[in-house]
Amino acid sequence: MTPSFTRPGALALFPLLASLLAAACDPDLAPEAPTWVDDVQPILRSNCVRCHGERNILSAPDYFRLDLYDDLRPEGSCGNPPERGCPKLGAASPGVAVEASARVDLPSDVIGAMPPLPTRPLTDRQKTILRRWAAAIPAPLRGVRAAERPPTITLRRPIDGTRVTAGSSLTIDYVTDDPDGDVVTGEIRFGAARGENVIAPIVNSGAGQVTWNTAMPAVIPPGTYILRAGLADDAQRGAQTETVVVLGTVTVGP
Ligand code: HEC
Repeated sequence: MTPSFTRPGALALFPLLASLLAAACDPDLAPEAPTWVDDVQPILRSNCVRCHGERNILSAPDYFRLDLYDDLRPEGSCGNPPERGCPKLGAASPGVAVEASARVDLPSDVIGAMPPLPTRPLTDRQKTILRRWAAAIPAPLRGVRAAERPPTITLRRPIDGTRVTAGSSLTIDYVTDDPDGDVVTGEIRFGAARGENVIAPIVNSGAGQVTWNTAMPAVIPPGTYILRAGLADDAQRGAQTETVVVLGTVTVGP
């Protein structure tokens, strides 16, 4: 296309038009106004959340989380003296958004560059998205998600109704998933309430395996136990709620 302009007004519009056309044609071009839901969260989820999520890796700072848009515990809500690991700022918190963008922009061989080597650095498009999103502080765009669906879990073994001898071990094979693509966290337990009789903290989405030693920490009394999973996706982690899924029963016999 060779545009020909006769009026000065049309000429002034040309750069804007050209960039709009380029944006429409070039899939690598970053959106002008990126949102959390459409652009930022997928980048953080696949590059950062395993170290800066619900369970931050040991040496990663624990006052912020890149799996959440909102603050889990805002500054000023942390008691005096502040509780350990508090506040828990979300990714849209001004300092976090700006620092995250600055860290990914560092040359990858500089100490402090994110993600740290040997993880490969973000693409230019991803860096641009984080920069533009951070530039929208104090209110980086959130965007809307079509639907919020709960996470799922499938048990591969044991089968429902399995019997084991008290004191022996049982292997639990599971796969967690989330129809919205969220990271799934949670636990498998044989108690009814959150945090009660936890067999396995599930760290991330996907397949996992855990051995339940029925003698640890103490031999559990014979009886039939209901195995449950308590799962949380991104929205539930923020709200500190969970989806409880009954996985089946296991009978611990003498
Ligand atoms: C392999 C684990 C790992 C991954 C992946 C990772 N980080 Fe980090 N991050 C760390 C560690 C460890 C530190 C603390 C050391 C430091 O500050 O350099 C840190 C520090 C930071 C800090 C500085 C916080 C502060 O106040 O000092 C920011 C911001 C950050 N990371 C953002 C990111 C972003 C954004 C990504 C993804 C693009 C990412 N990180 C990926 C481990 C990781």
